Amino acid sequence: MTTKKAQLGRTVSIVGTGSYAPDRILTNAELEKMVDTSDEWIVTRTGIRERHIAAAEQATSDLAAEAARRALADAGVKAEDVGLIVVATITPDMGFPSTGCLVQTLIGAENAFCFDLEAACSGFIFALETAKNYVASGTVETALVIGAEKMSAFVDWKDRNTCVLFGDAAGAAVLQARNAPHGLMASAFGSDGSLGELLMLPAGGSRRPASEQTVKDRLHYLKMAGREVFKHAVNNMVKSSKEAIRRAGLTAHDIDWIIPHQANLRIIDAIADRLSEPREKLVINLDRYGNTSAATITVALDELARSGKLKKGHRILLTAFGGGFTWGASVVEWDK
Ligand code: UT7
Repeated sequence: MTTKKAQLGRTVSIVGTGSYAPDRILTNAELEKMVDTSDEWIVTRTGIRERHIAAAEQATSDLAAEAARRALADAGVKAEDVGLIVVATITPDMGFPSTGCLVQTLIGAENAFCFDLEAACSGFIFALETAKNYVASGTVETALVIGAEKMSAFVDWKDRNTCVLFGDAAGAAVLQARNAPHGLMASAFGSDGSLGELLMLPAGGSRRPASEQTVKDRLHYLKMAGREVFKHAVNNMVKSSKEAIRRAGLTAHDIDWIIPHQANLRIIDAIADRLSEPREKLVINLDRYGNTSAATITVALDELARSGKLKKGHRILLTAFGGGFTWGASVVEWDK
């Protein structure tokens, strides 16, 4: 946990962002032909209209590497100057090596140390805080934080409850200590492992290794009790948002932009209502991407930055909820 200024030392800023989504777009109309659903149901229950789907030969590290290249270009930082790569993902290329190590090779960041962080849809904000502390302490000068997912590889395309919700994308942020007054200001996080079964990928790990039976039982696909997850998502994102704002020494009035995890427009609306925040502060792109898990916030942040609407000194609230359960919120002052 951190307070207004990074307690470990230097203040840390986001100095560049980048994002990438595969070319292929899957519309709701196409999904109508695949499962028993309708564009009307998907739009009214979720707000999603289309999502990007990676090509068969593209893995999560490929999406991540492209987002990383774009973020480094935006920051004016060379790959060899990156000291740390953290990839937040629940859809790694493989069990190991980590997607972070694979990205290192793809982008030529030979001086970085690299690892993955798994906190499902909360992964990017957990990774941002983790990398921030490495930079704040002086362990590294430049960190690359990536949220990247190929959800399409783990979605059961026969399950209408879940297959309409997810998409593939990656986003990245470059962190450096810039002696800015605030930078990454404060965060509040939480987890509740006792509710893990409500959102999980049951097989393929050490508990239930892959077998003919697990494949037959479709246990290598994501399972979600949507209505239950919905309720916990709203409560915990609101609670952690309030706490992060308080720890930053701010009030909700001081926040210029809210970037919530993009899972469901009704969840996002409920958060805005419960925080008494106007819709104009919300950054929403799930109509075009669906739920890209750890990538949602970082892709939305990159789009906001590139839109020209984000100004130096603006305060951004990032908040997420995901499998685990995991949740949290971070307040960032934009220093670019
Ligand atoms: O990213 C991590 C966090 N994830 C989330 O935050 C997701 C949270 N949950 C949600 O966004 C929503 O719960 C869903 C979008 C997943 C579902 O919306 P819901 O309003 O909670 O619907 P429901 O699951 O209660 O289902 C309502 C009905 C059911 O039919 P019956 O039992 O009432 O006859 C479902 O079978 O809608 C049916 N249904 C569908 N109908 C058409 C479920 N999926 C579909 C579908 N098309 N794709």
